[in-house]
Amino acid sequence: MNKDLLRMDNLSKDEILDILNLADQLKYEKKHGIEHPLLKGKSLGMIFEKSSTRTRVSFEVGMYELGGNPLFLSSKDLQIGRGEPIQDTARVLSRYLDGIMIRTFSQKGIEILAEASSIPIINGLTDDEHPCQILADLMTIREKKLILDGLKVAYIGDGNNMCNSLIVGCLTLGMHISIANPQGYKPPKYYIDKGNELALKNNVSFTMTNLPKDAVKDADVVITDVWASMGQESEAQKRMIAFKGYQVNKELMSLAKDDALVLHCLPAHREEEITEEILEAHADEIFEEAENRLHAQKAILVKLLSK
Ligand code: CP
Ligand code: NVA
Repeated sequence: MNKDLLRMDNLSKDEILDILNLADQLKYEKKHGIEHPLLKGKSLGMIFEKSSTRTRVSFEVGMYELGGNPLFLSSKDLQIGRGEPIQDTARVLSRYLDGIMIRTFSQKGIEILAEASSIPIINGLTDDEHPCQILADLMTIREKKLILDGLKVAYIGDGNNMCNSLIVGCLTLGMHISIANPQGYKPPKYYIDKGNELALKNNVSFTMTNLPKDAVKDADVVITDVWASMGQESEAQKRMIAFKGYQVNKELMSLAKDDALVLHCLPAHREEEITEEILEAHADEIFEEAENRLHAQKAILVKLLSK
């Protein structure tokens, strides 16, 4: 296993399955009141340069439940906010902490941090990737469908961090994925190339279209995300126009399999990327997905920090 979890392709198929199996076990133990202080005495720094509800609370509670100590570090209060080089921050924090989870903008920035740190760095969301979310999504799909191999996932919306990590995660595990993005909002070339390479290697399909109806046809799982991500607030109006027709609604869902799941990483913008009706009809899996952030992240923490 890599020292860090910076991007979905840091994990092999077996490593993803190991994390999902451990996450299932930790979820079972928690539900049955069995304590698992696997990270007793370990400290995790959590640096946030963007807002968060789920990631912050699930990592913080997850560390407590593993017997460890989480430290919330707002970038506004750290010296990096005043210009201290990221490399110096990394070298100092490596001497205090056992791991760092960071939510930030640039993927390059997190890679520089990882390079300069001797401790594991976990990506809690960048502009390019959201691997912790995708592990929770895969856990939820397997919990509900009992298998992953051969399922068809459809992603409707922006070619953003969620879409990128999802492409890599699904294709690595032998799932088919079809994505529908408007012109100009496709994933970066790196992820399209990576998707084509993984599809060929694992004998599964990776398709891209401008037509949401084609993407969701016979899908087992339909996933969407906001049209304007954190940091893109000024583009919200322009995006609202570009994404018209990309809403996950009843009409679109009628083309997926009858028992298709709907997932959304949340926060959701009702009547934009998803209707209230569909969100509420699939609240069971969407809020299980949110809960599973806790269990999946505990598994990631155990795998990376207990080495
Ligand atoms: N899904 C997710 O990452 O939620 P937060 O932004 O609340 O952490
Ligand atoms: N794509 C969204 C995900 C939020 C969890 C964003 O980056 O804001």
